[in-house]
Amino acid sequence: MACSDWGDARRRMLLDPTAVNLNTGSAGPLPRAVFDHVTGLRARLAHAPMDFLLREVPGRLWQARESLAGFVGGDPHRLAFTTNVTGAVNLVATSLPPLAPGEILMTDHEYPPMRWCWERTARRQGLSVRTFPLPEMPESPAEIVDAVVATLGPRTRVLFLSHVLSATGLILPVRELCEEARRRGIVTVIDGAHAPGYVDLDLAHIPCDFYVGSGHKWLLAPTGVGFLHIGPGRAGDLEPAQVSWAYEPPPGSDPDRRDRFGSTPRLRRLECEGTRDLCPWLTVPEAIGFQAGLGHDRIRARRRELADHARRRLTDGLGLRPATPKPSSLSGGMAAFHLPATVRADEVRQGLWERFRIETAASDGPNGPLLRISANFYTTEEEIDHLADALKDLLAG
Ligand SMILES: Cc1ncc(COP(=O)(O)O)c(C=O)c1O
Repeated sequence: MACSDWGDARRRMLLDPTAVNLNTGSAGPLPRAVFDHVTGLRARLAHAPMDFLLREVPGRLWQARESLAGFVGGDPHRLAFTTNVTGAVNLVATSLPPLAPGEILMTDHEYPPMRWCWERTARRQGLSVRTFPLPEMPESPAEIVDAVVATLGPRTRVLFLSHVLSATGLILPVRELCEEARRRGIVTVIDGAHAPGYVDLDLAHIPCDFYVGSGHKWLLAPTGVGFLHIGPGRAGDLEPAQVSWAYEPPPGSDPDRRDRFGSTPRLRRLECEGTRDLCPWLTVPEAIGFQAGLGHDRIRARRRELADHARRRLTDGLGLRPATPKPSSLSGGMAAFHLPATVRADEVRQGLWERFRIETAASDGPNGPLLRISANFYTTEEEIDHLADALKDLLAG
């Protein structure tokens, strides 16, 4: 795709013209078509709420489930929608049946609220949480597999891992890691908050017990879309966070058969939280279709070009040490850089926004302050150059 085509794609996005958005990793802006779609559904909900909820939502909900399951290589009968990843991880962590004494294991780069969620489960179940460091700049997925496998122990009951690390964008080889865990009888929960639309997801080949993902990041779906994909044989373990209409399934119903609500009794029991706005879920096919029209592989290639441009400007140009490995098996459009140890990451982020209107993400992780940029197909080289100039100015002051 030529630059002008990416320019056309950019014009189809709702982007604040006064700001530089380098933070799709936290929340993506919406394509105009996706915004119009969700807004149109909300107009139906506003005009004829019961007609919409009773007669229109069920068909659309099943269609959205099939569309998302097809996109992530999963099974629509095992895919429950949630509001976000936080809800999905909490659902799993709070409803796992009692585990034998032992530990919940995770990397030292997990998203903090998700770690706290597991710490609560550990307290309630009398388990411990153990974190371990990942290789800082691995050269291959195999190096990560070796490091993780070396930490698995006879007392490891649950392995909780991000598919793509939030702070650095490092992609973990979750298929191999889940295979190793499964051989040892360890329950695996994969936090794929960044994965849908970012990596070419194929859940049929990731043998985990539970996989969760978000829609509002790289999928460019409206806020309010998350999902939980349930591994074979695991559906019976789960208890809904909120008890609602679907809690008692109709007597004699097949729990895994499509019902008249656009779910299955089992999925609806997890999804139903009383009367609420499901329009974001129903807009998922539109979001997937938008990027399919541009070409998911092409988008991934473009993100890599832009991330490489950022490496040239920030590492070669400014001397910032990269925190994200370059090989395409380990990274995509997110690239993080170490900031000088004398600065606070959130102050740099704030300075970039307040003085230059550049949106980035920052964290003070176990290896010091990091700045993460997210490049997407609507990012331009000029925006990254603007970031490099702004950083030079900020870090000099
Ligand atoms: C790795 C990871 N897990 C979980 C979350 C939480 O996602 P949400 O706020 O959509 O629930 C995030 C959010 O950025 C994340 O990066």
